[in-house]
Amino acid sequence: MNDIERHKRAAAEAAAALVEDGMRVGLGTGSTVAHLLPALAARALSELRCVATSPATESAARALGLTVEELDAVGELDIAIDGADQVDPSGWLVKGGGAAHTREKIVASASRRFVVIVSAEKVVQALNPPVPLEVLRFGARHTLAAVGEARLRGELESPDGNLIADYLGPVEDPISLSGRLSATPGVVEHGLFAPELVSDILIAGEHGVERRAGGKRTV
Ligand code: A5P
Repeated sequence: MNDIERHKRAAAEAAAALVEDGMRVGLGTGSTVAHLLPALAARALSELRCVATSPATESAARALGLTVEELDAVGELDIAIDGADQVDPSGWLVKGGGAAHTREKIVASASRRFVVIVSAEKVVQALNPPVPLEVLRFGARHTLAAVGEARLRGELESPDGNLIADYLGPVEDPISLSGRLSATPGVVEHGLFAPELVSDILIAGEHGVERRAGGKRTV
């Protein structure tokens, strides 16, 4: 295992330790979450109720013996844990490298506490393109022309069967970009996550796991 994988695993294990029995837990998607699932299963918490953000996470979680249910059956989540592609100094994230960012954003917002787990190389001074977009198939070419500086990511589909594209233009002002992308008809969701969605960011590097507070007020 290389250093980055070791760091992903360290962040994932630190997050798994935050989970208590009886909690309703949102499970993200991606290679960092792939380390979270066995760490969570190893805790053998018999009353956990999990919600998965993708079919891949759902089948991996079930194979490890975790109980996975629909979000609407579980209701509000106590904690959700997920990776990110980029984290900036003010706590903005870019997510969606794995095409599941719409479900991930719903799960993050349905959760009282949203914990982001990253290896240190995901921390950037300023967000960079690409910003993943989930786009409705109907009129997708028109939608991407309206977004501007965007291209489809091949045949890749979201877990809900929509197209995945990448916005490739400037990202210096994530507040206004986020507003513009959300307001473009046909864009189902974009991969910019505001600091207000995030409770904690666990960043694992050479010197261990550092915790940064996010902007979400956990009650
Ligand atoms: C999945 O759609 C993404 O949002 C991932 O959470 C993000 O891309 C981080 O993935 P890795 O953990 O594989 O880097």
